[in-house]
Amino acid sequence: MTEGFKSNGQAHPEMRVRLRDVEFKNPVLVASGTFGYGAEAKQYCDIEQLGGIVTKSVSWKPRPGNPPHRIIETASGMLNSIGLANVGVHSFVSEKLPYLAKFDTKIIANIAASSMEEYRNVLEHIEEHATPNLVGYEINISCPNVKDGGLSFGTSVERTEELTALLRQSTDKLLIIKLTPNVTSVAPFAQACERAGADAISLINTLVGMSIDIYTREPRLNTVTGGLSGPAIKPIALAQVYQARKACKLPIIGIGGIATAEDTVEFLIAGASMVQIGTANFVHPDAGIRVANGLVEYLHKQKIAAVGELVNSLTVRAELKAAGW
Ligand SMILES: Cc1cc2nc3c(=O)[nH]c(=O)nc-3n(C[C@H](O)[C@H](O)[C@H](O)COP(=O)(O)O)c2cc1C
Repeated sequence: MTEGFKSNGQAHPEMRVRLRDVEFKNPVLVASGTFGYGAEAKQYCDIEQLGGIVTKSVSWKPRPGNPPHRIIETASGMLNSIGLANVGVHSFVSEKLPYLAKFDTKIIANIAASSMEEYRNVLEHIEEHATPNLVGYEINISCPNVKDGGLSFGTSVERTEELTALLRQSTDKLLIIKLTPNVTSVAPFAQACERAGADAISLINTLVGMSIDIYTREPRLNTVTGGLSGPAIKPIALAQVYQARKACKLPIIGIGGIATAEDTVEFLIAGASMVQIGTANFVHPDAGIRVANGLVEYLHKQKIAAVGELVNSLTVRAELKAAGW
């Protein structure tokens, strides 16, 4: 039973979900880079009502990130070139993880790096200092706005497989690989993660985008291009989740433009087992809780007993399936 949701006097639908042997209160996580390390949002949001928090990408050394402008609003979305600004893994384990350990919610540490060794060293350092609610790692191989942000891994099937296999040797906790949409087809990447022993994949990260000031004729972002997120990318994310679902058996965490319970239901039907809320947190820091509450209401109204019943329930007509769709 999930505490804090409106029940309207009826029995609670089952909101708990499992990834391998880890049980989450509900399938709604907050996405890396959009919720800081929890403390930033705490005054606006009862974070214990979230299924979990995926922390901001952490690298071995602290990173200042890119110079401004780092955020530009676009129609139905935003462009960012934060550049993986983060406190570095030593501060992460001495300050951020102990703070997050106070909360009854699951923590997934997101890791970014520029080499196999750095990924492994960061993961092993966190592993040594893990707190009880740290349940796993999300490996960011998909940041488009720094030159060494892992995208060279995320756009090579071989390197994705090699990195996943390497990290698998260093942890028994959940190993989730975060895939990029900036590839021709996501299917071989999903299959590479499955072959190499990942527990789940999450997708999508941001799409490469650009915005230009037509009076100065300059790019609006200091890095010229950046990562596009928000409602604008939802249809792309949904299609990639669907394609990954068809390509492998790994659990999928859907990300991309999710702002409402209805968005979440679409991702679950397309084949995701869980979702992450990203850009919507900048509009409402408690967006994840709104989504989880809305999901309970949807399940009530549709008389669906458990959220898991929605997963991979897309109805595709037989003749479309036969035609390869
Ligand atoms: C400002 C900002 C910072 C982000 N930082 C990270 C990051 O550090 N690591 C990461 O894996 N993804 C990062 N992301 C990507 C999000 O986690 C998410 O994959 C993406 O924004 C798509 O979801 P959305 O459309 O719901 O925002 C960032 C996104 C934004 C908008």
